[in-house]
Amino acid sequence: MTDIRIPETLRPVDGRFGSGPSKVRPEGVESLSAVSRTFLGTSHRQKTVKEQVARLRRGLAEFFSMPEGYEVVLSNGGTSAFWETATFGLVREKAQFAEFGEFGAKFAKAVTDAPFLAEPTIHRAPAGSAAYLTAEAGVDVYASVHNETSTGVAVPVRRVDEGALLLTDATSGGGSLDVDLRETDVYYLAPQKALGSDGGIWLALMSPAAIERAFEIKASGRYIPQFLDLVTAIEQSRLEQTYNTPALATVFLAAEQLDWMNAQGGLSWAVKRSAESAAAIYGWADRSSYATPFVTDPALRSAAVATIDFEGVDAAAIAKVLRANDIVDTEPYRKLGRNQLRVALYPTVEPSDVTALTTCIDYVAERL
Ligand SMILES: Cc1ncc(COP(=O)(O)O)c(C=O)c1O
Repeated sequence: MTDIRIPETLRPVDGRFGSGPSKVRPEGVESLSAVSRTFLGTSHRQKTVKEQVARLRRGLAEFFSMPEGYEVVLSNGGTSAFWETATFGLVREKAQFAEFGEFGAKFAKAVTDAPFLAEPTIHRAPAGSAAYLTAEAGVDVYASVHNETSTGVAVPVRRVDEGALLLTDATSGGGSLDVDLRETDVYYLAPQKALGSDGGIWLALMSPAAIERAFEIKASGRYIPQFLDLVTAIEQSRLEQTYNTPALATVFLAAEQLDWMNAQGGLSWAVKRSAESAAAIYGWADRSSYATPFVTDPALRSAAVATIDFEGVDAAAIAKVLRANDIVDTEPYRKLGRNQLRVALYPTVEPSDVTALTTCIDYVAERL
């Protein structure tokens, strides 16, 4: 089976379609290489590195048209660390979650397990559909996911309660989907997706209300582990550094990518490019006799991560042949357990490569 050779002429120029870690632009790596002796392996408390942290924070603020008073905060540990940080540092008493996939569920679990917080309200929806937040008395933090990477469902970012904080997991949606940051208090992400970098840090665009909440909770005397102290992260970020040692390459590549995307036209350009890739893959699936978009409601179909179900063709076998032909990471989210392929549509990915991928899938399916 893995003997099937896809002709070079049909293959995408770049075969990386993973939902995270995802494609890193070769140009970014070349820029990193160019500073390898002056930047890599140097102190993160000195100017050279702090300038890159500053460039990253500036780039994010520009890219997301950050409103007045909001701040870019970053620290180590990726989004998973941010969930714990928010559990200790942003939820005063009670949270409400919209949970429609594995990643939303992980944050909800962190809060549910915290002995110092009330039992959260969790609105759940089955995989492939969306759950929504509703205004509820007593809730001080609402939490949802812009794009659920495990299922390929995307929802708009919208406040439901002016009197509470809204936290939006933009780990995979940020940079591919449109957003007005005034609609949320914390828009948090990690650099291994649309930011075309490597993993390991979390980035959060925080409103004045969210920053105030962090200081309020810290002042209350609650026990907060040092590594998860959001106030420390805010204060360190203001100094263009992180609490502990970051991956310097990750910081540099993300800053480089943001400069590139801002030069192309910023978020509106990125959203358009992802939408183009989405139109290519969903359009192909709609026309296909054996492939269909997993998300049945077109309005919920993600332009960041596409999930495509297969009938009568073994998706795992297709993924295996693609991999043998250097087209990688099209496997579905492992816990979803469907006969499916999952394809990242982040702005780093060329829409023409997504079209080429669909041609390659047809080529393999015909020969299996
Ligand atoms: C929506 C979403 N949230 C959170 C995470 C976890 O991010 P990290 O691996 O940086 O902890 C991911 C990772 O894929 C994700 O897709």
